[in-house]
Formats: sequence, C-alpha cells, structure tokens
Amino acid sequence: MPVRLFTSPEIDRNLPLWQRAFPRLAHRLGQSERPATALRQTALALWREGRLSEAASLLTAAVSLEPNDAAIWNELGGVSQASGQSAVAEDCIKASLDIDREQPQAWLFLATLATDAQRYDVAEEAFLNALALAPDLAEASLGLGILYFQQRRFGEAVTWLRAMRQSGDSAASAQALLGQALFLTGDFVGAGAALAEATRLLPDEAALRQKLAMSRFLETVMAASVDEAMAAYRDVAGAAGEDPAVIVEKAFHLLSGFGQREAAIRVAQFRLAHQPDDPMQRYLLAAVKGEKMPQAPADYLRAYFDRFADNFDKQLVEVLDYHVPAALHALIIQTDGVQAGRRFRHILDLGCGTGLAAPLLAPLGDRLTGVDISSGMLARAAERGLYGNLVEADVVDYLATAPGTFDLILAADLLIYIGDLEALTVEVAAALRPGGLFAFSIETTDESDYHLLPSGRFAHRPGYIERMTVRDFILCQAQITRIRLEANKPVPGMLFVLQRR
Ligand SMILES: C[S@@+](CC[C@H](N)C(=O)[O-])C[C@H]1O[C@@H](n2cnc3c(N)ncnc32)[C@H](O)[C@@H]1O
Repeated sequence: MPVRLFTSPEIDRNLPLWQRAFPRLAHRLGQSERPATALRQTALALWREGRLSEAASLLTAAVSLEPNDAAIWNELGGVSQASGQSAVAEDCIKASLDIDREQPQAWLFLATLATDAQRYDVAEEAFLNALALAPDLAEASLGLGILYFQQRRFGEAVTWLRAMRQSGDSAASAQALLGQALFLTGDFVGAGAALAEATRLLPDEAALRQKLAMSRFLETVMAASVDEAMAAYRDVAGAAGEDPAVIVEKAFHLLSGFGQREAAIRVAQFRLAHQPDDPMQRYLLAAVKGEKMPQAPADYLRAYFDRFADNFDKQLVEVLDYHVPAALHALIIQTDGVQAGRRFRHILDLGCGTGLAAPLLAPLGDRLTGVDISSGMLARAAERGLYGNLVEADVVDYLATAPGTFDLILAADLLIYIGDLEALTVEVAAALRPGGLFAFSIETTDESDYHLLPSGRFAHRPGYIERMTVRDFILCQAQITRIRLEANKPVPGMLFVLQRR
C-alpha cells in the first residue's frame, strides 16, 4: 500500500487549515521556519501527545515537501506502525532505506515489521543488513537468533545469540534461547553453561531448570557413568525432576542422534540392565554398538510400533517433517501410463503403518490392501476406512502368499527396517503383475550395501538397490530426498519407482 503524498496545490490549500487547527504550526511558520521543518516538528509533538492520525497527516505533508529526507520517512513509518498500519509503515521504511541504506535502526525496524508479517526472508535480510552496519546492535542479534530458532536453523541461531552475548547484553531470554539452541545442535556442555546463566537470572522457570538438568546429565554421561549423570541431574532438578526411565530414554536418543556413541552405549546398557526382557532395549543396544544383522527383529518392531502408534502421525509429520508418502505419490503419478490415466486394480501398501499413504493411494485404484507387523499401527490404519483389507504379517511372509496379485506396491519408510533386500525384492517381483509398479524409499549410505545405524534403522547404498532389482525391474524414477529430521538435521534418502518387467 504505497503512501499517498500531497500535491503542492493540496498542501497550499491545507496549510491555512492546519495552522488554524495547530497554533504551534502557525507559530513556527511565523518564525520563518521552513514549512517541511515546521510541519515535521509539529507532527512529532502531536505524536508525543498520542495524536497519531494528526501526526501522520503532518508528516505526510512534510515528506511530500521533502521526499528525499530519509529521517521524515522513518518518522512517518514509526507513527504509522504505532497506529496499527504496518503495511504503510513498511513502505515508509523502505522509502527511507532507498534514500540512505546506511541506517541500521531502519533495517532493524524493517526486520521487525517483516517478522510480524511472517515474511521471514525479508526479515532475515533486513536483520543481516542492520548487523553488517552495526555489529553490536543487540536487538538485531536477538531478533535474528529468534528467527533462526523458529526456523529450526539452530546453528545459525547460536551464532547470532553468541554474538549478542559478546556485545555485553546478557538478557535472560537470550541466554535461555542460546542454551536451547546449543542443546538442539548437540553441544550439551555449551547448553549447560548458557542454561545455568539463564536459570540464575530466571530461578523460577521450571522448564529451564529441567533442560539444564538434562544438559548436566548428558555432559556428565559423556565422561562418566550413568549413575553419576543421574546424580548431576538431580543436583539441578531436585524433586521436580522427571522419571529416571524417561531421562535415560531421552538421553539415549539424543546421544545416539548426535553421534555420542560411547555414551549412548553406556545408556543403552543401563536401560537393558533395568529392562532385560524388553526387545527394544536389546535391539537399540545392538544398533548403537554397530552389530551386523539382516533386518530388525519382529519382536522389536511390534514392541516399538505398538507403543508408538498413537503418536506416530503427529510425531512424524509435525515434528520430524516426514513427507515420504506424498513424495512417492507425486513420483508415481508422474510415471508413464499413470500420467495418461492408468488406474491400478489392486494396490498394496507394504508396512502401511497408520495409513498415512492411504488417502493418496486409494483414489489411484480399485482395491487397497495394507500389511503391517504391528497390530497397534494397523488399528490406526483401520480407522481411516480406506483399506479394503488389512493384514497383520511380516511383509515378506505376506508377499509369498500373493503371487501375481498387485499392480502397485508402495513401501514408504519400510526398507529402513530391512537390511538385506534379497528376499523382499524377489517376493515383490513375484507379487506384482507384469508392468506393475514398485515405489519405495530408502535412507542412503555410501559405506556399504546396507548397514544398521545407531538409530535402529538401516541405510542402503543406491548401487545395492540397483543390483537387487535390475533383473526383474526397469527403473522409472529415482529422486534424492530428505526422509525426515534426525537430531534436527535432514536424513538423506532416495525415492524409487520401478516397473516390473
Ligand atoms: C516408519 S513406519 C512407516 C509407515 C508408513 N508406511 C508411512 O509411511 O507412514 C514403518 C512401518 O513398517 C512396519 N514394518 C517394519 N518392518 C516390517 C516387516 N518386516 N513386516 C511388516 N511390517 C513391517 C512397521 O510396523 C511400521 O508400521
């Protein structure tokens, strides 16, 4: 919304009216002040008195007379923002910056307006311009730190929040945010230091104290035993601490996710010692130790996914930014034949989980079957009412019962639980009709054909996929992708659509 300036005749017409309404303007003009100066000074006095719309009119008149005066544009921006006219304010600040780009405060103002309007790319550039001109501008460092934190760009948030500290500002909120950003980049020692300072400044913030206690646990267990780490946790959290089982569970995922293997093994051994019959603990210890195995054991899968089923959709989609079903669907519909309207008679969703793919798959065909090893996940899938048939089984066992049955088989985020793909690819090939499609995702590695990661998931080498499938399939589509976030970083992966020969 561009600011409408007054024309000269409009100013000539209005000036007598304004002088009558604002005697101090008449007085200033009577002292032979330049009209723009008199209008501006009168406007600033009105602004101080809270007479915002009158101030805005006089500043508009002043800037109409002196359109190259960056300061008046800034003032008009300020008064517009104070009257809730953010879009006008932004135009004014931009006009000011077009005249003089060396104004850190104006860049900061623009950054704040753009942040409020959720135009984060404009805000980022404006914060960076402000800081290039005034590296000690603490509000800009904090604003940029918050912006990066909200965008989950934790490393960059740390840079700017640290820069702010160096400039001498130790605001509690900045320390708290810095501590959390460091925590989320896996720097638990640094997080502990910043959170300790934040907790000193904000002693009543229970959530901060818990985060500090967790940082203390993690930094201690990286050098000492789990018992010592637990004592360090309790020193900080006191009676308000979380349940020890929850603490070690969170610690394990953080340590393994951030590559703190030795400490993760210590925590996994501790958990297994306390839950010797839990298949999850057995498997996760094996995974973090890097043991070799062909696939995740059935008892682990059932225990893990049955427990996870209720939170799966929220956790994967909202927290971990998982969009593999949609990405595979997009590839399938770009494939020759499907693009021209081909429909699938019978579709199989292999490792269907809670059925996230079902709303995308169902419209592509006549029948949709789902198979999964976890009854908890299947119960969620059934609630969608989109599968004609849901089967509780191991995928390879199921495929062996259904030769020549399907025209499309989808395996979204399934192969991460199956390292050796020999049996699976043979059975998928047998279960597909000639010309049928096999669409799937993998997490990628270039270290070996496949290996078990500390996360308990398998990564595969793309060349291994080719070797396993070249005999029975033609490659239709292959695309590099990000599977989900892990330790706040994207997990590299690939999507494939193959056609049965
Ligand atoms: C990460 S989830 C993905 C679920 C779903 N495909 C999606 O994209 O939302 C993996 C699913 O595969 C299932 N699964 C893993 N290995 C399996 C196997 N060998 N047989 C059957 N289901 C399996 C798990 O129970 C889980 O529901």
